[in-house]
Amino acid sequence: MDVHPFWLAGSPATGDAELTVTNSHDGRVVGVASVPAPEQVEEAVAAAHAVRKEAAGLPIHVRAEALAHVSRRLAERAEEIARLISAENGKPVFWARGEVSRAVSTFRFAAEEARRFSGAVQRLDTEPAAAGRLAYVSRQPYGPVLAITPFNFPLNLVAHKVAPAIAVGAPVLVKPAPATPLSALLLGELLAETDLPAGMFSVLPVPNERAGALVDDPRLPVVSFTGSGPVGFALKDRVPRKHVTLELGGNAAAVVLADADLDWAAARIALFSNYQAGQSCIAVQRVIVEEPVREAFTAKLLAAVESLVVGDPADDKTQVGPMVSADAAERVERWIAEAVEGGARVLTGGGRDGATIAPTVLADVPDEAKVVREEVFGPVLVLQPVASVDEAFQAVNDSKFGLQAGVFTRDIGVAFRAAKELEVGGVIVGDVPSYRADQMPYGGLKESGIGREGLRSAMEDYTYEKVMVLTGLAL
Ligand code: SIN
Repeated sequence: MDVHPFWLAGSPATGDAELTVTNSHDGRVVGVASVPAPEQVEEAVAAAHAVRKEAAGLPIHVRAEALAHVSRRLAERAEEIARLISAENGKPVFWARGEVSRAVSTFRFAAEEARRFSGAVQRLDTEPAAAGRLAYVSRQPYGPVLAITPFNFPLNLVAHKVAPAIAVGAPVLVKPAPATPLSALLLGELLAETDLPAGMFSVLPVPNERAGALVDDPRLPVVSFTGSGPVGFALKDRVPRKHVTLELGGNAAAVVLADADLDWAAARIALFSNYQAGQSCIAVQRVIVEEPVREAFTAKLLAAVESLVVGDPADDKTQVGPMVSADAAERVERWIAEAVEGGARVLTGGGRDGATIAPTVLADVPDEAKVVREEVFGPVLVLQPVASVDEAFQAVNDSKFGLQAGVFTRDIGVAFRAAKELEVGGVIVGDVPSYRADQMPYGGLKESGIGREGLRSAMEDYTYEKVMVLTGLAL
């Protein structure tokens, strides 16, 4: 089997070790990635540091054209890339196609935002002492970005770190998740087709144990991490003086109120608690349903969950595939068992076959069970009946996480209340919390993270405001 080279300062290279990527559905080897030696990692960091000023000075049309090129090439190779994502991650090809089309948009939005990111002017002659003064406020990149990316969206969550970095003129080093490095390496191939200067990007599939050295490196002033809370906050504590963005987990809630369209709510919640086998930070985990519609909604939900097609991720019809590994599925199986021992009832699912967990709905779950309190990151839904809107909002907020929430209601007043009262980064009215448009601000409160992604938001995050004051002007 061919070994995929990694990308060292814009060029393909091979290292001193290899990483074998397997498919969690059938165990076949999907590909082998070359792993950089420590001195090659040092070369990549040195190159990013050396090119930082040239990168910051790159004309906007050069950055925008590079981003637009990647967007076009992703679209041209969409089916091949979707198959690669599906093979390395185990997500059904149906969802992998969606991920590629999102990455096409992510790069396209970055190209567009790069052209708009112009700074602002501020008049300062608001006081007599500042007559004739004007400020030009620009945004300058902090410098090279270290992007540590997760397995669950091995292309688009890499795109969300790489595209805004290029848009603001910051070199970027990607450390992809060890389970899914191949999509990131393919992205490197497309970036290498552009006119970006050498050193502007590297894709380094090093093991997690070697990420600490990169995090500590003072030549990488920005660390953008997506992954688990404990790892993210440990990383932040390790480098308190660095600019760190954390996109962490959640136990996302969907609220179904008595005035909701129950068929729509049931169909959407069934699909989005199980998409990617629940391995999204905004997959629906808790369904908070108002008592008057609990019974009718539960019947519709169970019918919708049971109609999902579970199976081989390579099959076009499959909606729910395996988790990323059998170990991950065993962990979810243990959490379900723990909830059942505590008194929970399994309304459907609950079983495991290799890396695949059957779509599962639980009721009467003890409040302290892990499937309620922690992030399941698996295809498990917990039903929580409530008596009122107040109780529903309290239940959403009774969480250490705060990423996104969905509220199914047709009452505009309640929608505005939700937007104000729910302690989350995003409230989705009339749909699941799993909705994300790639241009919108995305990120959490509490233990769900620090900072925001979304192209414009990430570009602001990777830059600082710099003021130039002009004096003696005839304004
Ligand atoms: C995540 O799992 O945080 C990303 C969700 C998404 O991009 O849809």
